[in-house]
Amino acid sequence: MDRRAFLQFLGALGLVTASGSLWPMQAGAAKPDLDVELQAIQDSLSVFPGEKTDIWRFAGKVLQGDPNQLQQLEESWLGPIFRLRTGQRVRIRFKNRIPQESIVHWHGLHVAPANDGHPRLAVLPGEEYVYEFTVTNRAGTYWYHPHPHGLTGTQVYGGMAGLFVVSDEEEQALGLPTGDRDLPLVIQDRTFSPTNDLVYLRSPMERMNGFLGNRIMINGQADPTFDVQEGPYRLRLLNGSNSRIYRLAWSDGRNLEIIATDGGLLESPWSVPDIMLGPGERVDLWVDFAGSSQETPIALQSLPFTPGSGHMGMMSSRVSPPLGAGFELARFQVRRTGRTRTSPPQRLARLERLDPAEAVNRDNPKRFFLTMNHMQPTINGRTFDMTEVAPDEMVRLGSTEIWEFINQGSMMAMPHPMHIHGLSFQVIGRFGGPGYRFLDRGWKDTVLVMPGERVAVIMRFADHKGLYLYHCHNLEHEDLGMMRNYLVRS
Ligand code: C2O
Ligand code: CU
Ligand code: CU
Repeated sequence: MDRRAFLQFLGALGLVTASGSLWPMQAGAAKPDLDVELQAIQDSLSVFPGEKTDIWRFAGKVLQGDPNQLQQLEESWLGPIFRLRTGQRVRIRFKNRIPQESIVHWHGLHVAPANDGHPRLAVLPGEEYVYEFTVTNRAGTYWYHPHPHGLTGTQVYGGMAGLFVVSDEEEQALGLPTGDRDLPLVIQDRTFSPTNDLVYLRSPMERMNGFLGNRIMINGQADPTFDVQEGPYRLRLLNGSNSRIYRLAWSDGRNLEIIATDGGLLESPWSVPDIMLGPGERVDLWVDFAGSSQETPIALQSLPFTPGSGHMGMMSSRVSPPLGAGFELARFQVRRTGRTRTSPPQRLARLERLDPAEAVNRDNPKRFFLTMNHMQPTINGRTFDMTEVAPDEMVRLGSTEIWEFINQGSMMAMPHPMHIHGLSFQVIGRFGGPGYRFLDRGWKDTVLVMPGERVAVIMRFADHKGLYLYHCHNLEHEDLGMMRNYLVRS
């Protein structure tokens, strides 16, 4: 469909305003609780001793509202942490000051298409884009990053990403750890040149596999050790890597106490020895360091795993640990105070469960085959097109559907972390594959689909009409076009 036909088509669905704008802004809305300027800028940072590292990053400033709702991070390429409460209204004036087109996507937030950062909305260097929306999500750890087509990997790798933390009354009533005891850990892998420059994509092979760096960076810092006290902590982990997957575990053999996933708190804590964390996914851990040794810091580590027989990650192993290698992520040096170990509250939050019987397509789920053939990743054999929507990518506002992501029968089997914009979903089935432990509980917006697997998710298109994206969150795959539109229509 060409652009004019597409606009006519959207017009027929009532999605285009009389002025021809595909992205009507809600006019006359209430004054925002928080008004922020968010610039994408070129900068340099002392990441290692010696030469500074050139980066791109988000710089934020509160124009109106509580300055504490935008937490600046020192010595990090990460953007400021937004802290919003459910029901608050935010205006964000994005200014693009990098030498590429860009646009910001609020990953996990249920915003209208005009606020969702579709690549069609990308603005040129020097231009601006104003977002304005009410936060409707439940309490949870969300994030933001650029989304211009073909450039997302480059810009995120350069440093453009940040957390968007939402709280609500239900969460506040639990008395979970706050302040210094609410610790964000954004995990990214990077490769640096001998002069401390970021090194990205040296070969087409690396692009096809997804970029793997040779250093783990936590909140933009290498080899961090966190000085911690005894008593409870909430660790908010985001896998902000372009393509690396982690299999999280504690080094002292204790279980991970999972209290939240992408879309916020679980009903009750989930205690597991290890968990897979794919790009784009978040997991909140409860941990109390009481009773741990002072001599040996506790490490959060990634255990080895097999990424699938067809994965070509070994090809890059000369420069970076291959996908599935084991290593340490971060250390925690514990200061003794003699307290006994506490455990998380046993009841966390109410969780609505979507019922597969209510799905309009329960007998015939939408099926999306994920393939990598001749170095081109596709979804049902298709690649991204700015305007195109296939018949199986249209849904009705208010309906509930089951979608299946099928990572089987590809010439080259590799993991695909699948992400859907504009909503949260629930995982209702996982079949085949290597049988690791996945973050399949609670509300999700990204789900890891390993080679040989078929994963079924259920979701309700409850909020907005219009054009959204779904894609692989391996950012090199996304940039290669492993991304598609879906359209919510009345
Ligand atoms: Cu975090 Cu469309 O992505
Ligand atoms: Cu997203
Ligand atoms: Cu992929």
